[in-house]
Amino acid sequence: MTTSQATTRSTSRREWLVPAGLLLLSLVPALGGSVRLAELGSDPVLTAENARFVTQPLPVVVHIVCVTTYSMLGAFQFVPSLRRHRWHRLAGRVLALAGLGVALTGLWMTAFYDLPVKDTVVVNGMRYLVGTAMAVSIVLGVRAALRRDFVTHSAWMTRAYALAMGAGTQALLLGPFTAVAGAPGPVPNTIGMGLGWAINVAFAEWVIRRRRVRRTA
Ligand code: HEM
Repeated sequence: MTTSQATTRSTSRREWLVPAGLLLLSLVPALGGSVRLAELGSDPVLTAENARFVTQPLPVVVHIVCVTTYSMLGAFQFVPSLRRHRWHRLAGRVLALAGLGVALTGLWMTAFYDLPVKDTVVVNGMRYLVGTAMAVSIVLGVRAALRRDFVTHSAWMTRAYALAMGAGTQALLLGPFTAVAGAPGPVPNTIGMGLGWAINVAFAEWVIRRRRVRRTA
């Protein structure tokens, strides 16, 4: 094997690390979603915990289908070699719809579900912000792609994906907390949810900045 073949192979292996990490990050909320779908499909006994989902199943079912599609398929949009194929454009159409589905059903549940006490007014305020920012980012990302401004397109789509994947970071933060200290009350839940979104927004802005610096260099 020549040096250039070895370099190409290690670069192509490295480019799959990003989607692998993103798939891992989306695994916990996606698994939670499939458990909820299985419960809703099995004529469940009504409890205080599941009442909002059982009495109004439509938004949560659409939400779970959209979040699973968006988080899993979306991870592959970050593979540079796939961006050179038709795959990126075809998947992008599905993802724009699924992403809008995630944001709009998230907003719908925030507005109309009787949410648990741990979801404070601050958590729900952040959900309104995140849902709106995610939908706007997707619309701006699609508009940029239509005018073939792929630098702006990639920035807005990265922002939208990072906001959505707040669910994965929140699971990483609140999961261990729950294992050690039990179900989080309103304060730790608000901190964990806020921190999850803040970390993702900061990371997305760092990635976007790094791409800009590399392009300039
Ligand atoms: C890819 C990103 C997302 C994933 C993986 C995800 C995952 C989920 C899952 C699995 C559920 C069902 C929870 C359960 O059965 O107990 C859920 C509910 C919910 N999601 Fe999302 N979600 C995402 C994005 C969003 C966004 C952006 C918003 C905010 C606009 C949002 C707001 C909500 C709300 C309000 C509920 C109902 C919570 C409850 O009733 O306890 N989600 N989400």
